[in-house]
Amino acid sequence: MVYWTTAWGTCIWLQTLLAFALANCPSQTPSPVNFSVVYTMPFFQAQGPIQNIVNNSFYQEVYVASQNVIEAVNRSLEKAWELRTGPVGSPECQICNLCDIDKDYNFLEDTDNQVLMLDTLFMYLYSCGSSQYGVCYFHELNSNRGPPSRSKCLFRKSSNSAAYCPDCVASPLGTKVSMVEEGQTVYFFVAASVNDSVTQRYGRKSVSVRRPLATEDGFYSDVRGLTVLPSLRTTYHIDYVYSFFTQEFVYFLSVQRESPDQDSSRFQTRLGRLPRYEWEVKRYRELILECRFEPKRRRRNIRSEPYKDVVYNVVQAAYFGKAGRELAEELGAEEEDDILYGVFAVTDDSGVTEHDSALCAFPMDNVNKAIVDGVDDCCQSGPEQLSRGLCHFQPCESCPHENIKDKKTLRGDRRNLG
Ligand SMILES: *[C@@H]1O[C@H](CO)[C@@H](O)[C@H](O)[C@H]1NC(C)=O
Ligand SMILES: *[C@@H]1O[C@H](CO)[C@@H](O)[C@H](O)[C@H]1NC(C)=O
Ligand SMILES: *[C@@H]1O[C@H](CO)[C@@H](O)[C@H](O)[C@H]1NC(C)=O
Ligand SMILES: *[C@@H]1O[C@H](CO)[C@@H](O)[C@H](O)[C@H]1NC(C)=O
Repeated sequence: MVYWTTAWGTCIWLQTLLAFALANCPSQTPSPVNFSVVYTMPFFQAQGPIQNIVNNSFYQEVYVASQNVIEAVNRSLEKAWELRTGPVGSPECQICNLCDIDKDYNFLEDTDNQVLMLDTLFMYLYSCGSSQYGVCYFHELNSNRGPPSRSKCLFRKSSNSAAYCPDCVASPLGTKVSMVEEGQTVYFFVAASVNDSVTQRYGRKSVSVRRPLATEDGFYSDVRGLTVLPSLRTTYHIDYVYSFFTQEFVYFLSVQRESPDQDSSRFQTRLGRLPRYEWEVKRYRELILECRFEPKRRRRNIRSEPYKDVVYNVVQAAYFGKAGRELAEELGAEEEDDILYGVFAVTDDSGVTEHDSALCAFPMDNVNKAIVDGVDDCCQSGPEQLSRGLCHFQPCESCPHENIKDKKTLRGDRRNLG
């Protein structure tokens, strides 16, 4: 399945990459686990369900965010300090008044933590919540392990309005951000789940790149991004599960339906990719990730038990890391290779997960190669009628073959000149 587009003078494109599940855990466990053994471990009890965690190895602290509070925990898992981030409108909130945003004191707005990130260069802890139109704050961490020495709201009233809000970052429906440091500057690569209201008033985008201002009071107003088309916003939901980056690219892992215009099409896992050094989103690419389990001993010859190939379509959780020696051998990769690990489940058409799950490993070299191959394919004319794809971010059209011819002619000319 290959798609291509000329919408932004480039191939925005989508294709599928497959990985096979590593092992079938239930049947291969060597001895039964004894669930009666009691382990005593040091623990920290957060004030509510944990929404995000950040490890600060420099200060040997862990920051734990839950609704309306960020708690700092030290090496002995004891609370070092806390910072109340909500409810907005309540005197309890320690930072809410730092934002010049109107508050309704009769209606307290809880702050669910959407984003928690550490800038290790300046020792700033960034947090963005579900309240106050998804604005972000930074908290300057204190080297003597006390509470932050100052917090600042990244919102400039003069540069934002209900109609255009470059400082509105996080969505209450879910947000994942990769913070990429380039010298003294940081970039926020943001993926947010949106609906009609989240995009309209103090609007947020689905995928965008934001750059904090040197004045530390907001983001550059020129925000580039992609947003689910207005006609699809009530029906087409994209759930962002994970984000990470490599030396070259930033990636977003998401779950969404296969086709935006069919409410009952099956759910898929997709990996979106943006170049790390670009401010624009012209070179956005998307890849479908498929996790399959193929039993090692295929019992095709036994009629009563036909071979069944299970597609684990929906990622539940993911981790970006290295391969390690043994897995690298199995995957035909190198020990230090970048790998995306995902735990996948099978869902029915309504999105409810069924029975078991599987772990799949995707070497990033394969991911990037699949993207390059797809771009090559879609930029060459072929017998296939191609669709340019990503019909939730741009109008859906077939591949314009005339343009492909033009491109080839241009290439030929260049070669002659050279
Ligand atoms: C499981 O652990 C408990 C507590 O240590 C022990 O009493 C019990 O004998 C163990 N059961 C098995 C089957 O090993
Ligand atoms: C977290 O930080 C501690 C040092 O405070 C370090 O030993 C540990 O490896 C870190 N954990 C992770 C997952 O990075
Ligand atoms: C952690 O914090 C507790 C309470 O403030 C303190 O008693 C303890 O010494 C601290 N532990 C470390 C390793 O700093
Ligand atoms: C969009 O999501 C927000 C946050 O959950 C919710 O309050 C709002 O009602 C939703 N809007 C629509 C049009 O569904």
